[in-house]
Amino acid sequence: MAKRDHTFVCQSCGAVYSRWQGKCDACGAWNTIAEEVAVAAAVPAAQRSSRKGRAFALESLEGVGNPTPRLVCGIGELDRVAGGGFVPGSILLIGGDPGIGKSTLLVQASAALATRGLNVVYVSGEEAVDQVRMRAQRLGLAGAKVGLAAETNAENILATLAGGPPVHVVVIDSIQTMWSDSVESAPGTVTQVRTSAQLLVRYAKQTGACVILVGHVTKDGQIAGPRVVEHMVDAVFSFEGDGGHQFRVLRAQKNRFGPTDEIGVFEMTGGGLKEVANPSELFLSNRDLGAPGTAVFAGMEGTRPVLVEIQALVAPSSLGTPRRAVVGWDPNRLSMVLAVLDARCGVRLGGHDVYLNVAGGFRIAEPAADLAVAAALVSSLTGAPLPADAVYFGEASLTGAVRQVSQAPARLKEAAKLGFARAVIPAGGQDGSTPPVEVDAISSLAQLVASIAAR
Ligand code: TYD
Ligand code: MG
Repeated sequence: MAKRDHTFVCQSCGAVYSRWQGKCDACGAWNTIAEEVAVAAAVPAAQRSSRKGRAFALESLEGVGNPTPRLVCGIGELDRVAGGGFVPGSILLIGGDPGIGKSTLLVQASAALATRGLNVVYVSGEEAVDQVRMRAQRLGLAGAKVGLAAETNAENILATLAGGPPVHVVVIDSIQTMWSDSVESAPGTVTQVRTSAQLLVRYAKQTGACVILVGHVTKDGQIAGPRVVEHMVDAVFSFEGDGGHQFRVLRAQKNRFGPTDEIGVFEMTGGGLKEVANPSELFLSNRDLGAPGTAVFAGMEGTRPVLVEIQALVAPSSLGTPRRAVVGWDPNRLSMVLAVLDARCGVRLGGHDVYLNVAGGFRIAEPAADLAVAAALVSSLTGAPLPADAVYFGEASLTGAVRQVSQAPARLKEAAKLGFARAVIPAGGQDGSTPPVEVDAISSLAQLVASIAAR
């Protein structure tokens, strides 16, 4: 018998080592390296014989006449994140924490696609067929014509799909439960997941079916196990939200066929996920009007403006190193705003604990929130509430100047729509047209601090 070729593979990032070690040099994770049978050893020798390649004809860039239309499911928030519907022949990965609602979302999407006459197959590797049925019943979708299976073997799934009528969409819930006969590692290992994903990618490209993979996420937000799968797929979406809140955000992290800055907002209800057409209303629904330390930020998520409340609490610290706690924003960005306030505006927070929270559990990625954060911080420090009818946006530079941000008109329009009367924004950047709200244009953070102090 041929000597088995064993390798040691990091289960977090897929790095391969010749011997076991405690820490992965590639991703820095501890205790993630496990012994696996190398992929090459798992392929029978006969198949590895060096055969000559087969020549093929090259194609030209021109001639993509009419691409196949996208598969629109009718759940607007999902279609928009996908870039206007799913692309036939593409493969996408939806990651998220356990229990966040991935299976719910995909059962709803499968049913929606099926009612539009598409042939949809939902393969669950985690739940029995009856459990998926129960979920569909609870969602009121039991009548949808979705092909259902509980299966974890990739070859069996592909054989089933090949044996039936042409399939438009295949959902695999989840990729971590899949295994292939061609490799000997245990299910759930990087090698298994990667091999199964490879088989499914090939299936999608060959048949033109759209394959949707569900992936679990580790504590630090990575799609668990194989980061390699992220490189193999056409799109990676993350489904986020926190346990204490009912709303969920679908975010595109990578998309070969659409934008990556769009979000889809859903609310988890007793009857499944409901679309939230106007997220700003949801995020601003429980505002503490008149409390110091809160500012409304007019943000943009892709093409859509989203207004959220930023809350800051600044309190004298009893610790040698004051606490800095941030929920929903980049902590490094907070440090920068604090440093600029200190160095350029004389606002000293070195001896204070600082807590910053984006209300509703939303996560902001834009630097445009700098101005709103600074306003909330200064308001909390001075105890002077900000005007309840004002929104803020603008990026702070290290010099203390306030920089313009993109899509100011759309932000102002949304603010006016939600009943705000004024906006504190960077000077310049107005295109001459009358803004829908009263604009208070400022050019530096010092100006903002002075105006709050004067209140
Ligand atoms: P699920 O889709 O199973 O999560 P995932 O596949 O990401 O692990 O969602 C499970 C959670 O959603 C569970 O805590 C119950 C809740 N839920 C509802 O609130 N309403 C519903 O209609 C359904 C089906 C689930
Ligand atoms: Mg699930």
